[in-house]
Amino acid sequence: INTNNLKLTISAASKKQYPENDWPEIALAGRSNVGKSSFINTLLNRKNFARTSGQPGKTQLLNFYNIDDQVHFVDVPGYGYARVSKKEREKWGKMIEEYLTTRENLRAVVSLVDIRHEPSEDDIMMYEFLKYYHIPVILVATKADKIPRGKWNKHESVIKKSIKFDSTDDFVIFSSADKTGIEEAWQAILKYL
Ligand code: GTP
Ligand code: MG
Repeated sequence: INTNNLKLTISAASKKQYPENDWPEIALAGRSNVGKSSFINTLLNRKNFARTSGQPGKTQLLNFYNIDDQVHFVDVPGYGYARVSKKEREKWGKMIEEYLTTRENLRAVVSLVDIRHEPSEDDIMMYEFLKYYHIPVILVATKADKIPRGKWNKHESVIKKSIKFDSTDDFVIFSSADKTGIEEAWQAILKYL
C-alpha cells in the first residue's frame, strides 16, 4: 500500500452516500478527543490529512479516506462529548449503528481508548456492541506518551479487565505524539486487508 496516495472520498451521513466499491474498510471508534484522526495521520505519516481539531465533537460525518485506491479508513465522529444535544446524539447513534451493522466492506474497527484512564461507560458499551455484532476489534490504548513506559503494563491490564477484552482481538499501545506502536498498529490492520 502506497501511503502517499491519499484522498478523501466522501464525508457521508447515510448509507446511500457510502462509496460503491468493494474495498475493505477499517473504521475508527472512540470518544471525542481520544485521538482517532491523529491515529490516522500518524499511520499515514501526514500532519493534517484526517482533520484533527481542538474542537471536540466537530467530526459529524463518516469520513471515508481513500488509501491508495485499495482501502478506506473510515473516521467516525467521537462519542461522549457532553455539549451535544440529545437530538444530535440520537442522530449520531443512528448513523454509527447503520454503518457498523450493515456495511459489508467493514473488516475491523480500531477502537481507541486513553491509556491513562479506565475505559468509560461509553468505551465499554462500544466494545460490547462490536463484540455483539462479531466485528473484529483492534483495541488501541493511545496517548502512551502521557505516562511513563514502566506503567504501560499495569494500565494495559486495567483496560483489558474493565472492558472484558477478548483475547482474539489485537491490543496496541500507541502514541501519535512520539509514534509509539505504528508498526504494531499496521500489522494488526494488515491482517484484515
Ligand atoms: P473527534 O474528531 O472530536 O472525535 O476527536 P479525535 O478522536 O479525532 O481526536 P484528535 O485526533 O482530533 O485529537 C484530539 C487532541 O488530542 C488533539 O489535540 C491531539 O493533538 C491530541 N492527541 C491525539 N493523539 C495524541 C497522543 O498520542 N498523544 C498526545 N499527547 N496527544 C494526542
Ligand atoms: Mg476526529
